[in-house]
Amino acid sequence: MVILGIESSCDETAAAVVKEGRVLMSSVIASQVDVHARYGGIVPEIASRKHIEAVGPVILQALEDARVTLDDIEGVAVTRGPGLIGSLLVGLSAAKALAFARRLPLAGVNHLEGHVAAIFLTEKPPEFPFIALVVSGGHTTIYRVEGFHKFMLLAQTRDDAAGEAFDKAANLLEIGYPGGVVIDRLARTGNPKAISFPRGMRDSLDFSFSGLKTSLLTLLRKRGAPFTEAELPDLCASYQEAIVEVLVEKTLRAAAENDIQRVVVCGGVAANSRLRARFGEDAGRCGVQVFIPPPVLCTDNAAMIAVVGGQLLQEGYREGLDLNAVSRWPLFG
Ligand code: KG4
Ligand code: ZN
Repeated sequence: MVILGIESSCDETAAAVVKEGRVLMSSVIASQVDVHARYGGIVPEIASRKHIEAVGPVILQALEDARVTLDDIEGVAVTRGPGLIGSLLVGLSAAKALAFARRLPLAGVNHLEGHVAAIFLTEKPPEFPFIALVVSGGHTTIYRVEGFHKFMLLAQTRDDAAGEAFDKAANLLEIGYPGGVVIDRLARTGNPKAISFPRGMRDSLDFSFSGLKTSLLTLLRKRGAPFTEAELPDLCASYQEAIVEVLVEKTLRAAAENDIQRVVVCGGVAANSRLRARFGEDAGRCGVQVFIPPPVLCTDNAAMIAVVGGQLLQEGYREGLDLNAVSRWPLFG
């Protein structure tokens, strides 16, 4: 099946064409980063308005890049949640309009399952079951994945998501937005052992990042002055290491406890260069195979939505035109 995917859950308007759930024919992502950067975070009302402007052109571009027309599309997949309601509704309305006008089957996709499914667009995807770490701006979760839509929750964050820990730190340091990208870049020339930051909840598989954020705030207050440009690389590398280390350690522990040797790492934070490197180093030592999509498929995109949508349609699921967006939608249970 040739599926058109549409994603608008946060601040990226995206459309993609995917064939047979494996072949990426096109993926277009219109980012709103520049618009939200001046506020240091996403302004939901602005995000919805920008989605409205972008959704039409982005869909047309995805069709053009894939060298297909709407006549070739056999199904429409759209992110239904979780996410910002106003943003989700834009993609959902566009998808419904297309499905109605072209008499195409419609699938409503869970954004988090989409992040995991991005791995099926890579050359050698893992077989089920596998352990999945989903690390994004809003989620930090470990699942045992038995199949499509078969997720067992193993661990989650008790407070901030890993992406939030990056973004809030960058905000405190006033070094730009989105924080993960900026800290990743600055950390490259820094020493990860320069400053000792706390590692939260060592004894549990669950995560906690609020203590880390607070310790950065305390450090800043004690200094009473901003860090200089020369100091930032060490600070960023040390802060990043505190996040990366617990993510890697707990995911590999979950794999060992579940006797599963395949681990998928996905979501925006999976684009982090240190996280990718650390997983590579540490997993090899434990005999675990790690699968991470290329960075462009880690951050929000519509190709991952098309993969899950295609699967749902194959399984016979069909959404009606009364399909609504949901801001919260846990993957399990
Ligand atoms: O998956 P995503 O694009 O959107 C959500 O579903 O939330 O994730 C966005 C998050 C942001 O917090 C951003 O700072 C983080 O992913 N991120 C990164 C990197 N690129 C994006 N964090 C660390 N290193 C990166 N290179
Ligand atoms: Zn996401």
